[in-house]
Amino acid sequence: MTIREVQDEIMRLKKENDICILAHSYQAHEILEVADFTGDSYALSKLAATVPNKTVLMCGVRFMAETVKMLSPEKKVILSSPIAGCPMAEQMDKELIEAVKLKYPDYTVVAYINTTAELKTVCDVCVTSSSAVKIVKAIENNNILFIPDCNLGAYVASQVPEKNIKLLQGGCPIHAAVTKREAEAAKAAYPNAELLVHPECVPPVVALADFVGSTTAIMNYAKNSDKKEFIIGTENSIAEHLQYECPDKKFYLLSQALMCRNMKSTTLIDVLNCVKGDGGDEIFLDDETITQARKCIDKMIEMGG
Ligand code: 13P
Ligand code: SF4
Repeated sequence: MTIREVQDEIMRLKKENDICILAHSYQAHEILEVADFTGDSYALSKLAATVPNKTVLMCGVRFMAETVKMLSPEKKVILSSPIAGCPMAEQMDKELIEAVKLKYPDYTVVAYINTTAELKTVCDVCVTSSSAVKIVKAIENNNILFIPDCNLGAYVASQVPEKNIKLLQGGCPIHAAVTKREAEAAKAAYPNAELLVHPECVPPVVALADFVGSTTAIMNYAKNSDKKEFIIGTENSIAEHLQYECPDKKFYLLSQALMCRNMKSTTLIDVLNCVKGDGGDEIFLDDETITQARKCIDKMIEMGG
């Protein structure tokens, strides 16, 4: 079968089986083409509560599928690849955060959405990279415990200096591996290009950026800019998608190593198998976890607008 034939079959089967396909922007281009909705974590979690279909297929990583399940517990939710976890989401567990909360009882616990459903049960509000600054600014309490990404947390702290933000040592191993030296080398190699980076990168890399934002924010910035060249400081698929959308512009990789194996573990054939009802991993969460964990997601949607 050709790629086009596989895609046509996916389109036919998702209609026949009443399946909505959500795909994070880090997915491969041929998967985005068969999705009903694509976007960053925030856009996808907002959509999760509103799609009318009986089944939702999440092409992304496990915490994203768990978010869909929490917001639409009556739906069948499938994660496109059973092995697609997010290493950052596994870095801190509920017991650790419960112990930290005992030390900081008057702090509001802000959890990046890249956390497990179980961990969310002990947090106050979720944020994504696109909503974090706005939400932290709006929290009444001045004392914030931000978990698990200390790089996103440091970026938020730089944008909201009036808050007392405590960070723990965690983060995305892919984004955090990019060095200041690589960023300087890329800027020297492409002097006419703007550097656009995800706030999961370390502060010295963020400090060199012309623009900092979520995956969707980076894409929108590049699409709407009058500039013609950009160095993309997030997962490398974003540079590829942008190159399709803006053939008159040039997109360079900040680092060859900016490749998330988990996001990339889903193939088009996995998507085909899922819409056939023969693949992926169905998400099951108990009622107690859903009730407790979704409070901080609901709060994020309420505060994030
Ligand atoms: P976004 O918030 O930009 O969707 O980022 C998700 C993610 O996993 C980044 O590594
Ligand atoms: Fe997790 Fe990083 Fe992959 Fe995003 S890029 S899913 S934060 S490991």
